[in-house]
Amino acid sequence: MIKKCLFPAAGYGTRFLPATKSIPKEMLPVLTKPLLQYGVEEAISAGMDTMAIVTGRGKRAIEDHFDRSYELEHQIDGTSKEFLMDEIRGIVQDYTFSYTRQVEMKGLGHAILTGQTLIGDEPFAVVLADDLCDNDGDSVLTQMVQIHSKYPDCCVVAIEEIPSNDTDKYGVIAGELIEDNLYKVNNMVEKPEPKDAPSNLAIIGRYILLPEIFDIIKDTKPGKGGEIQITDALLIMAKKGKVLAYKFDGVRYDCGSIDGFVEATNYFYNKKE
Ligand code: G1P
Repeated sequence: MIKKCLFPAAGYGTRFLPATKSIPKEMLPVLTKPLLQYGVEEAISAGMDTMAIVTGRGKRAIEDHFDRSYELEHQIDGTSKEFLMDEIRGIVQDYTFSYTRQVEMKGLGHAILTGQTLIGDEPFAVVLADDLCDNDGDSVLTQMVQIHSKYPDCCVVAIEEIPSNDTDKYGVIAGELIEDNLYKVNNMVEKPEPKDAPSNLAIIGRYILLPEIFDIIKDTKPGKGGEIQITDALLIMAKKGKVLAYKFDGVRYDCGSIDGFVEATNYFYNKKE
């Protein structure tokens, strides 16, 4: 069983300045809900009960969101607006939130390594809240947990097909199809130019990782952009046949970009009753 989900949330969100000058990008709302809360709800739907959040300077609003707010609750209790807080109150009451800070921004691999203190020695999920996923059936993370329970010795990354000229925005994999929508990865490259990309199968922000990844990250040299990349660390495991890539069922919006954020907003607006 995977109980812990790691949320790297230390990045600056420069693409959303000036909004992200004092508001963490993970707290930007799609309709009325912050991006990070969508990620937390997805982890809960997949059976996880502990949310391990890697934050940084200027991110205190995240901790305040996943906490009681006595003054506000006192004001709205017994009014017609009380129901607006039901979801988040339930989450705060029933699940555990733990935090650590990433002091220097040295890449996603480094952020994940920073979270080791919260995860310990067990398999765990990683959700990048920028990638907002939705599905009427099982959530993307639930689908990945099912794969991992069938292949417990493997890490799992979520992938989708992207236009060939977008490969420089993603980690890109190559692999051998072993089941419907499931590849055994034999190569992965962080943000390759289209001409160097091994395929058009891009990693999106959902991972299930084994704890041995931490030691591998410690030995991983800075890669693309001078940052420590999780893609490079996973390649070491892929070479041992221990990484699967799963083409998930569902939609995904890149809320790290303005276009994707607007599309997600329209999608959820049209979906609501
Ligand atoms: C990160 C990863 C990349 C992955 C992407 C998914 O990149 O490094 O491999 O494809 O997330 O969103 P970032 O978007 O943080 O630059």
